Amino acid sequence: MSAAQNNNGHFAGRIPVLTPHNITSSKSGQFHLQILPSGDIKKVLCCGLACSEIFSGPLLGRCLMSGNVYEQKCIEKLMAGEEADTLSVHTSAGVPAAMSVFLEALSKHLPWSEKVDWFCSLQSEGASAVLAAVDLSFQLRTEKEAKDWKVGVASTSYHGPPSTSLGSKTTLFSKSETQLLYPCPSPYDTPEEMEMKFAQYVEWLNLNSSTLASILIEPQWGSSQCAFCWPPTLLEKYMLEAKKRNLLIISDEIMCGMGRHGVSKTLFLTKALNLHQHIDIVTFGKSIATGAFPLSGCLVKNGGDVFNKRGKSVMQSHTYSGSCVRSLMAAAEVLNVLDAYFRSVNDVPNFDINHKGNVLRQLFLEIAEKSKGLFMVNGQGLMWGLLINKNTCTSKNVDVLEVMNSMKAECNTQNVLPYFVPVGGVMITPLFDVDEVVLREIGKRIGAAIENVIHKLKI
Ligand SMILES: Cc1ncc(COP(=O)(O)O)c(C=O)c1O
Repeated sequence: MSAAQNNNGHFAGRIPVLTPHNITSSKSGQFHLQILPSGDIKKVLCCGLACSEIFSGPLLGRCLMSGNVYEQKCIEKLMAGEEADTLSVHTSAGVPAAMSVFLEALSKHLPWSEKVDWFCSLQSEGASAVLAAVDLSFQLRTEKEAKDWKVGVASTSYHGPPSTSLGSKTTLFSKSETQLLYPCPSPYDTPEEMEMKFAQYVEWLNLNSSTLASILIEPQWGSSQCAFCWPPTLLEKYMLEAKKRNLLIISDEIMCGMGRHGVSKTLFLTKALNLHQHIDIVTFGKSIATGAFPLSGCLVKNGGDVFNKRGKSVMQSHTYSGSCVRSLMAAAEVLNVLDAYFRSVNDVPNFDINHKGNVLRQLFLEIAEKSKGLFMVNGQGLMWGLLINKNTCTSKNVDVLEVMNSMKAECNTQNVLPYFVPVGGVMITPLFDVDEVVLREIGKRIGAAIENVIHKLKI
């Protein structure tokens, strides 16, 4: 494709409207072939991508295969003018048969072992999954008549794109009618400061719990805190205080779930941390259907019979909720591959997240050390962040934005694309089947970019 054919500026994406986007023409593992608006072609080591992908190569092919065969057969029948199997169906008419296959695969990953009347809502993207979770929490807390419920979200949180979803900030409108912000720890805090914030949180609960149906937590933050993990004991203390006041707890694992955490062989991080007993609703999304197809949702621990008796269901519903067969089939395959891996039934090669996590920890700690305190390391498993240390910026008289812009330029020169997070820093969330050699290459390129930043900004 030539530059003249790159006419995608009319798509309003992440960059200013009417600016042509890069085109990703092909992928080989973490390496993407990009066609730039100039027409130049660039091979970029894309290691950010915010958990939007899970597998590459044969594993990805395997997860897409059954849906592809199914679709091919449908197309053949359609072309022959014959009755064809369902590819999608409007929610008012029914669900495709693949729904049962997906639910069966999902049921093996439920974080709760007790017998529960669980159910799940399906959406297309994470922001709607969070809304569905909040909707269901409000309904679960509503015994007789509707109340103006609110949800508590961490003061630093990103439960979706910045403009409209819950959790994040927007200059477009106020979300204070639906959400209240609670004090939460940050990577800058000392243990004493974290305890102080916890005390403030308890006060906040005392003040607000009568209007709160639920609180949202991200057990490992994504963009808003650059892969920072909640200290588990502190997180449990937060949960117990909420439980004491009958609040429901929603764990938003859209970014950190899918076993990426590597803490133990479980899909959900709160289960891996043994905190699942406090969780009422958990969200999932991103690469659950490989990333090639959109799918997200939330799992509700119990209350299915309550909804059933009331003749109610989730309100956050739409035309295609759980209707896309390719999404459902791909997701069932992903969940089954992960199930085999987590249960050690099969030998799935290249899957040792713990080992890969340790390699990344080592690489990132070395990079942070060389950065003379400009970057702080957060993370675990296959989700790591290098957060620009605002204290170092102040002492060295540089602006976080200046560091960020310099980092973007240097990463571009090194042909590496981490995920640049608005809080100031980068995250990397490699594929599960990434090779160790590639991990080391990521470390090398990001390390070189940071060395140049330090040099150019005279840190
Ligand atoms: C924790 C969390 N929740 C929800 C979302 C929203 O997901 P989506 O971008 O698919 O709407 C994100 C996106 O990154 C996220 O990090």
